[in-house]
Amino acid sequence: MNIILGIGGGIAAYKSAELARILIQRGAGVRVVMTHAAQQFIAPLTLATLTGQKVITSLFSSATADETLASSVEHISVARENEVLLVAPATADILAKFAHGLAGDFLSTLYLAFTGRVALAPSMNKEMWAHPATQFNLTILRERGHLIIEPDSGYLACGEIGAGRLADPERIADAVLSPARPQDLDGEHILITAGPTQEAIDPVRFISNRSSGKMGFALADAAACRGAAVTLIAGPVQLPTPNGVTRIDVQTAEQMRKAVFDHLEPATVIVKSAAVADFRPANASQKKLKKSAMRLSLELDPTPDILQELGRKKGDRVLIGFAAETERLEEEARRKLESKNCDMIVANQVGDSGTGFESDDNEVLLVFRSGGTIPIARAPKRQIADHIFDQVFKLRLELSATVK
Ligand code: PMT
Repeated sequence: MNIILGIGGGIAAYKSAELARILIQRGAGVRVVMTHAAQQFIAPLTLATLTGQKVITSLFSSATADETLASSVEHISVARENEVLLVAPATADILAKFAHGLAGDFLSTLYLAFTGRVALAPSMNKEMWAHPATQFNLTILRERGHLIIEPDSGYLACGEIGAGRLADPERIADAVLSPARPQDLDGEHILITAGPTQEAIDPVRFISNRSSGKMGFALADAAACRGAAVTLIAGPVQLPTPNGVTRIDVQTAEQMRKAVFDHLEPATVIVKSAAVADFRPANASQKKLKKSAMRLSLELDPTPDILQELGRKKGDRVLIGFAAETERLEEEARRKLESKNCDMIVANQVGDSGTGFESDDNEVLLVFRSGGTIPIARAPKRQIADHIFDQVFKLRLELSATVK
């Protein structure tokens, strides 16, 4: 796949060198176009050396008349030779130019001449990102069918914390190269739950757990990249919604249960990666509890076991449960597989650092109804998600063979 990598003028421009390297390593041809501002942050020579190709830095080159003529139509030939236009970082200025069709430099002129797939990885200060003008421009670009690779949340170069940090280069590469992946889940409708639930003690306090939602969001992204229609029911987490995924936000176990059963009908596969709180206060106080008593006892009721109810009502859907265990991983997973009528359990050891809750990586044991198991070594959650869907794909094939 031949990709034009457009680089905008933001501090994240330094990450575009890493992005170019990853794209090339994964087999793409990369032609770099830099805006004038981008060249203040990273030298064209770095990108030319990494890609082995001349970097385009302006609409008009300071060359001979013949060469100038050639370069003045270069945006047309570059537009024809490449299948994807990826801009990373895409600044607020670039988003505005693209949205409104301004063509004052090579990149924006190229955009208007380009007929292939467009992917934009925005990066900017969190207030600029949240500004109605930027969000309006993003709506226009999304409606035009462009892929927006949502920025991450975290520390920004300006010293603030919030949304606006350029997505991880690996995530950008995954998103851009994904149509080259097998669309083996095309036609599937996958319902995924992610994150924790919060059960109110009073209006300001709640019972919850350490789930960040990363595993469930990685699953949603993987399924969507492989062609599935994905509905993601998310507990309270601050993660960007993966492209092409329908997200429903909930807070409590009861709300998650309702959302799951409201959206069960079209689902062919259900993946329950949420860490649903097992208990909720029996009598949540309507007013903030005073700190007067020395000791406070809370009476807790069990929350609805959504997975168990799904096991009873799943019909011919594939049902995947998770098991978060601190000991006897396989034994506990198999017990859950049987008691909740699942087709597969994804068991992960929790309590260790680096995998399970909150981490970017996970290490899991897939436990099957047939008695078999498949261990998946430690890897980023996005890769683990693809391993899980490799097995889901097989389970769906097996199921359709038995139904026929
Ligand atoms: O979100 P991250 O920070 O990325 O962390 C990922 C994870 C560790 C949360 C995830 O990999 C994981 O293990 N999720 C399941 C956590 C859990 O609640 O495990 P459990 O063994 O307590 O529950 C077993 C299964 O029953 C789970 O599929 C759970 O969704 C489901 N359940 C549990 C309780 C309940 N009331 N209703 C349920 O449906």
